[in-house]
Amino acid sequence: MTILAIVFALPIVGFLFWWLFIETEGVYLGRRVVIALYDLYAARYDRVKQFDEQADLALISLPIMERVEPQTDPLILDVATGTGRLPLIMARNAAFAGHVIGLDASSRMLKVARKKVAAERFEAYVSLTRGDAQNLPHSDDSFDVVTCLEALEFLPDQRAALAEMIRVLKPGGLLLVSIRIDTRWMPNRTWSEARMRRELAAMQMRNVRVEIWQEDYSQVWAWKARESKPTGVARPDQVQQSPSQIAIP
Ligand SMILES: C[S@@+](CC[C@H](N)C(=O)[O-])C[C@H]1O[C@@H](n2cnc3c(N)ncnc32)[C@H](O)[C@@H]1O
Repeated sequence: MTILAIVFALPIVGFLFWWLFIETEGVYLGRRVVIALYDLYAARYDRVKQFDEQADLALISLPIMERVEPQTDPLILDVATGTGRLPLIMARNAAFAGHVIGLDASSRMLKVARKKVAAERFEAYVSLTRGDAQNLPHSDDSFDVVTCLEALEFLPDQRAALAEMIRVLKPGGLLLVSIRIDTRWMPNRTWSEARMRRELAAMQMRNVRVEIWQEDYSQVWAWKARESKPTGVARPDQVQQSPSQIAIP
């Protein structure tokens, strides 16, 4: 009887383990587990992802620069920057004269990013900071561009995270986020295109464009209503809230 129970239970436990810790990367177990798992995967992340640098340049870096034209020195916040994918492809673009602040909650992902930034001597273009996507340590209306790639579905409250990104985006600023397409294994974690459009419209975003990007993700581009002067290259501390304003969870 005991052996029979084990034979039946083992595949179920194995499946649950795979689903909770591997396939959905801890997302149903809470923020701390997600971050702990990214800390654990950090050294392998780039090897597993195998990002195509030329494709990233063509589909992320160049379109950002085209969409902020004539500005060449945008101040960008990359939320959930991971190992620095977006900051690095911006810094490698010869037309980019701005600055990217990459924020992530995983110190080990940031450690990998820091090494890559130092190896390419991109410190003038990139700063990296540890923080929570739902509680950004930046002042309102600060950034020319805010990005968040392949990460919204891992955040505890996507609407709150999106509202936070829009808070720090300056009026007229550009937002780039992604929607995960394959939702089979992540019920209730990913938004449809229609839902994303509705949520962004309710947050005063305009000209929402959804574009095919990778096998697993679409890109969503949108602009914050109204206009304001570009922020341009600013020292990261100029857009930082005073420590008393920042609540670290
Ligand atoms: C799939 S990775 C994407 C990284 C990067 N944007 C890219 O495209 O390679 C998701 C990232 O979200 C970060 N993350 C998860 N929850 C977070 C949170 N609450 N605040 C900030 N970063 C978070 C993880 O540490 C991880 O680096």
